[in-house]
Amino acid sequence: MITNFILNGEDVVVRTSAGIRLIDILRKNFCLFSSKSGCLTGQCGACSVLFNGRISLACLIPAFKIRDSEIVTIEGFSQTIEYQEILSGFIEAHLGNCSYCESGKILCADALLDQNPSPSNEEILIGFSGIKCRCTNAERLIKAINIIANLRKERLHGRSS
Ligand code: FES
Ligand code: FES
Repeated sequence: MITNFILNGEDVVVRTSAGIRLIDILRKNFCLFSSKSGCLTGQCGACSVLFNGRISLACLIPAFKIRDSEIVTIEGFSQTIEYQEILSGFIEAHLGNCSYCESGKILCADALLDQNPSPSNEEILIGFSGIKCRCTNAERLIKAINIIANLRKERLHGRSS
């Protein structure tokens, strides 16, 4: 099958089989390696991407579902001011990072704050429950997301409360 979609802001076309996973298309057809090919069973979150604006697992999305969709990987997201804010929050909170699922954590933070600009501690942990990160301490994760939420509010509204 030939299918078209928007990848990191650009219209792209790919020839593939209907059942091929999005994670394989990203890595093999487009050489986008930030989303990792981890468990491939929907358990680890290392393959996370933004799929039509929602954090989604690229290992569970077959090619036939991507037609006309909009997909963002960290390679595209890294060009945004939101990326810089999230990175700042991660660094300031000393969030551990071996980089294995770092792109998933960054995209997850963006999707969470898009849907809920002021998440509670519990909502933060629930929002990240799909990312099984060995480097992430819950306390530091909560601190990081609160820092990022405040940076985003200051940018958008000129205040952090
Ligand atoms: S590789 Fe997709 S959830 Fe683990
Ligand atoms: S950054 Fe997630 S396992 Fe290390």
